[in-house]
Amino acid sequence: MSVLVAPSILSADFGHLADDINFINESPADWFHVDIMDGVFVPNISFGFPVMKALQKDAKKPLDFHLMIADADKYLEEFAKHGAYMLTVHYEACTHLHRTIQKIKSLGMKAGVALNPSTPVSVLEDILEDLDMVLIMSVNPGYGGQKFIANALKKVSTLKKMIDTKKLKTLIEVDGGVDTMNARDLENAGANILVAGNAVFSSKDRNSAINLIKG
Ligand code: DX5
Ligand code: ZN
Repeated sequence: MSVLVAPSILSADFGHLADDINFINESPADWFHVDIMDGVFVPNISFGFPVMKALQKDAKKPLDFHLMIADADKYLEEFAKHGAYMLTVHYEACTHLHRTIQKIKSLGMKAGVALNPSTPVSVLEDILEDLDMVLIMSVNPGYGGQKFIANALKKVSTLKKMIDTKKLKTLIEVDGGVDTMNARDLENAGANILVAGNAVFSSKDRNSAINLIKG
């Protein structure tokens, strides 16, 4: 069993975005990982709806949206209109998480919840069965190209046990500092989808980087 790979558009060349979108279309990658940052929940701003529109037009693989924004509820309809397959919100940014998750599903998207490095997986005990995916952050969200925080591996194992004990099919995604060196450990711990920005886009041979992460 190999993992799915979701290259992060944040590491693409925005001056030649269409080229990088096409590269992913034709590569062995599985999803497009789309990082949305608002400068409030995280100390960085990524891009807005005009860029998402360009992405929606050209991308031929599922769009995996990772919202790092303070007020996700306000924009859920917009993300549905912009073609989100998976919409992941942060546990730390959602006061009424259950309501937000139900709303995402009612709009026809799959629903995910992301956890910052300092948030334990135990906080998901009472919402896990409602989730299609949990995203374990292995860096503090806000920037690409950061160093992998090794404790994420332990969190993936703990989460995998919770999912199996409850007999659920919830997917586990890992995001931040993922590369060809830690991919197998993450897969063995229970990860299903690996996000990779720097490891793919700064590689000389991007296709083989994707294949090596896939396993
Ligand atoms: C960080 C983002 C990540 C990031 C991953 O806040 O959520 O998706 O783009 O990039 P790398 O793989 O370079 O850490
Ligand atoms: Zn992300």
